[in-house]
Amino acid sequence: MAYQPILPSHVALSMPVTTPKCAPLCVIVQRWKGNRTSDQSEAHPFTALERLLMILRRIYDDSLAQASYLVGSSNGDALILDPNRDVDQYIELAETLDLRIVAVAETHIHADLVSGARDLAALTGAELLLSDAGPPEWKYAFAEQAGTTLLHDGDVIEIVELSVRAIHTPGHTPEHLAFLLSDTATTEQPMGIFTGDFVFVGDVGRPDLLESAVGIAGSKDESARQLYASIQRFRTLAEYVQVWPGHGAGSACGKALGNVPQTTVGYELRFNWAFAVRDEDEFVRRVLDGLGEPPRYFARMKRVNQQGPAPLASLSAHRNLHQTESATFSRLAR
Ligand SMILES: [Fe+2]
Repeated sequence: MAYQPILPSHVALSMPVTTPKCAPLCVIVQRWKGNRTSDQSEAHPFTALERLLMILRRIYDDSLAQASYLVGSSNGDALILDPNRDVDQYIELAETLDLRIVAVAETHIHADLVSGARDLAALTGAELLLSDAGPPEWKYAFAEQAGTTLLHDGDVIEIVELSVRAIHTPGHTPEHLAFLLSDTATTEQPMGIFTGDFVFVGDVGRPDLLESAVGIAGSKDESARQLYASIQRFRTLAEYVQVWPGHGAGSACGKALGNVPQTTVGYELRFNWAFAVRDEDEFVRRVLDGLGEPPRYFARMKRVNQQGPAPLASLSAHRNLHQTESATFSRLAR
C-alpha cells in the first residue's frame, strides 16, 4: 500500500506559505489582533538591532509526564501548543520572555488532563486552533461557540517568520494532528515536529483508549491500523527533523516512553520498535499487546475535553492582567 508523504518529495514546503493565499487553509496570526489602534500602526516593540530569533520552550508537568510548548516568533508573537489547565504558567512565561500569545493549538482531545486551550485563548485573545480531522463523532463540540479555527491535514498556521503545518496523524485518536514547524526566516524546510501522542521517544501512542477507556467496542484494531498508516507517512520526513513529543516516561498514553525531552526522526526510524515493524498485521498485534488498564478517569476526561471544560472562575482577574500587558506593549510601541 502506498502512503501519502507528509510533504511533497520534490521540494518540502514548496507552497508559498508566506502569502495569505496558500491552500488548503492558511491562518495568519498577527500581533495586536483585536487591540491595535490607529496610532499603533504596524509597529512592534523591537527595533532591527533588537530583533529576536525564534524561541522554543518546553513546559513540562512532572506529575502527568506531559509537555506543552511555547514557540515565539521574531516579532514577539507566540504559539502555545497543548496547554493544560494551569494556564497561568503560559501567560507568565510569555510575559517573562516579552512575548504575546497570539495562537493556541492542541494535537488532540486529551484523555489524561483537562485541556487549557479554550481558557488560554479566551484569556489572551489568541486564535484557538483545533482539529477538524477525523469522523463526526470526534469533533470538538464547543468549536463554533468558542470561535475556533478548525484545522485539517496540510493547513498552515503562520506567525510572522514561523510556519506550523498541521498533519493528520490518526491512531492514538481519530482527530490527532502533529505540527511541523519551520523557521522560515532561515528556510522553509521543516526544523521539527510536535508529535503530541503520536510518536514518543522510543514508543508510539496507544491506539486502544477509545475501546478500553471510552468503551467503543471493536475500535482498537482499526485505530492500530490507522496508527500504522500514520507511521508510514512519518517515515517520509527528513532524518534531521527534530521530534518534540507530548509525553515522557511515566505517561499512560504509551507503553514504554523514553525519559529524554526530544529525539529526531532518524533516531526513531533506527531505534523505535514501532518503526522496525514493516508488516501491518504484526504491528497491530504488537502495539495492542501488553497494554495496561488505562486510568479510570480517562473516559470522563475525554468527554470533558470534547464538550469543552467549564471556563475558569478566575477569568476576570486574568482579563485585568491582559489589559495591563496590552498597555505595556502600547507604551513600548510608541
Ligand atoms: Fe492522548
